[in-house]
Amino acid sequence: MKPIKISASILSADLGNLLTECQKVIEAGADWIHMDVMDGHFVPNLTFGAPVVSSLKNRLSVPIDSHLMINTPDQYIPEFSKAGTTYLSFHFEASLNPFQTINLIRQNHCCPGMVIKPDTSEEKLKPFAKHLDYVLFMSVFPGFAGQSFMPEVLPKISRFKKWMEQEGLELDIAVDGGISTQTAPQVLEAGANILVAATAIFKSPDMKEAIQSLRGRGPR
Ligand code: DX5
Ligand code: ZN
Repeated sequence: MKPIKISASILSADLGNLLTECQKVIEAGADWIHMDVMDGHFVPNLTFGAPVVSSLKNRLSVPIDSHLMINTPDQYIPEFSKAGTTYLSFHFEASLNPFQTINLIRQNHCCPGMVIKPDTSEEKLKPFAKHLDYVLFMSVFPGFAGQSFMPEVLPKISRFKKWMEQEGLELDIAVDGGISTQTAPQVLEAGANILVAATAIFKSPDMKEAIQSLRGRGPR
């Protein structure tokens, strides 16, 4: 069984105290810091870019996981790599040529992940799976923190996990959107091993408790 990783999305952090918030969440047990990069085109919201990654990079003791919700991801990959992200994911729906995007991420020494929206079939991941370090299933429509988990994504994860096992593939499965103490056990049961969460961690009165209960009793 793969270790369960908690990737804390700073979208719900107090952005005026971003460094302190990241340090607190790492102290509380987060394995990765998840950066939601939005361009106002691929999703109807704007956040931040590579300079924020680069400012945090050397001050954090865990890897940065950048989730690009942007059109033309290829254009920004070298910049994110230089900024120091370890994990770099892009949307299948936003890439003109996913093989090329994955190669570019590898050439830039980052770990590639491919993301699908809730209404994109898991079949779309299959041709690329053996070239990826992880896949990310969105369980809300991307753009905002604090939305409700979409249970329709669970059978997609289970089917993909089963297929992966048949193929002898060992990539990680991440889920992002509406992850809480109620929904985490369901996505873990379906086969995921990376949980991305913003609200459930940063809006909790006790981040350590929140992270422990998301992780449940699974291995670290
Ligand atoms: C949504 C982002 C998520 C978001 C999750 O577009 O990709 O990472 O921050 O937020 P919660 O955990 O509040 O659903
Ligand atoms: Zn995200």
